[in-house]
Amino acid sequence: MNPEITRAVEVLRAGGLVAFPTETVYGLGADAANPEALKKVYTAKGRPRNHPLIVHIASAAQVADWASDVPAAALRLAQCFWPGPLTLILPRASQVSELVTGGQDTVALRVPSHRVAQALLRGFGGGIAAPSANRYGRVSATTAAHVRAELGAAVDYVLDGGACDVGIESTIVDVSGARPALLRPGSITAAQLEQALGAALGAASASSPRTPGTLAKHYAPQTPLMLMEADLVVELAASLSRQGQPVAVLARAARQPIQQGVKWISAPQDPAGYAHDLYTNLRALDQAGCSAILVEVPPLEPAWAAVHDRLTRAAAGSATPDAT
Ligand code: TXA
Ligand code: MG
Repeated sequence: MNPEITRAVEVLRAGGLVAFPTETVYGLGADAANPEALKKVYTAKGRPRNHPLIVHIASAAQVADWASDVPAAALRLAQCFWPGPLTLILPRASQVSELVTGGQDTVALRVPSHRVAQALLRGFGGGIAAPSANRYGRVSATTAAHVRAELGAAVDYVLDGGACDVGIESTIVDVSGARPALLRPGSITAAQLEQALGAALGAASASSPRTPGTLAKHYAPQTPLMLMEADLVVELAASLSRQGQPVAVLARAARQPIQQGVKWISAPQDPAGYAHDLYTNLRALDQAGCSAILVEVPPLEPAWAAVHDRLTRAAAGSATPDAT
C-alpha cells in the first residue's frame, strides 16, 4: 500500500478524521462503525447531529452491510452509475449508528470512483462516513488547500488528490420508497437516471427522507451573493463600483472587466466546466473583500439543474444591494 494510504488507514482505525478526495468534492472521513469518531465529524464541521452522513464503500458488494433491503431500482442505478457521483438512500440495516442516519430509518450509500478514495476504502475495508469537508453551510472543498483552510487542525490527516473532477456534490436518489425520487441534483442528471430506470422519477415528498443539505441556505460564501441576468450584472457592478463599493462578479461570457473596483471571473461556458470551477471561483470571489458577489444566472436548461441548485442556495437570504 502507498505510505500515505497506510497512514490514513491507521488514522481511521484509531478513530481519527481523514479528509480525502472524491470525484465530486473532498470528504471528511471517519470510521462509520465508530460512534466516537462520528461525533468528531459533527464537531469539526459545526454540523447539527440530526443531519445524516453518507457512508462511502469500496463496491456495491458491501451494500448489504449497511442496507436492510436493496430494491430493484437501487440495483439498476448502482449497476449503471457506481463507482461514480451517485448516492442512494436505502432502508438502513439495524446496526447502523444513529450518528450516521441522523435518527432516520434510511442510510445514504455511495461508491466513489476517485482512485485515492478507492485505495483508501480498500485499504480500510469498512465503510467511511464522510460529509463534504467544509464548515457547516459553507462552500464545499474541491482541493486539499481548501480543506485545510476550512477545517485546519480539526482534521487529523489530509490526502491530497489534486482538484476534484466534477466539482459539485453527488446526485442523491431516494430508492427507499415506492418510487425513486431525486433529492439532490448533481452531475448525473434526472434524464440519465430516468433512462437507466426506464421510468419517470417521483418528486421528493413530505414522506421522503430529510436531506438537510437541501435547506434553503447552504453552499454559501460569506459575502452576500445575488443571481441576476447579464445586463443587470453589468449595470449593478458599474453602479456599485462608482459608489466606491468594490464588487465581485461571476460572469458566463468572456468579457473584459467593466472597470476598476470590480473583481471579475468569467466562468466556463459548459455546465461541466462551470461546475468543476464553481467552488474555487466562489472562494476566490469571497476572499476579494467585496460588498457583494453578482452571479450571472446560467441557462434554465436541465443540464444546468445542479449548478442552479447550488447557486440558488448560495444566494438564499442575501438582499440585493441598493444601487441607486
Ligand atoms: O459528493 C458527495 O456526496 C460528497 C462526497 C464527499 O461524497 N458528500 C457530501 O456529503 O456532499 P454532505 O454530508 O455534505 O451531504 C450529504 C447529504 C446531506 O444533505 C444529507 O442530509 C443527505 O446527504 N443525507 C445523508 N443521509 C441521508 C439519509 N439517510 N436520508 C436523506 N438524506 C441523507
Ligand atoms: Mg455538504
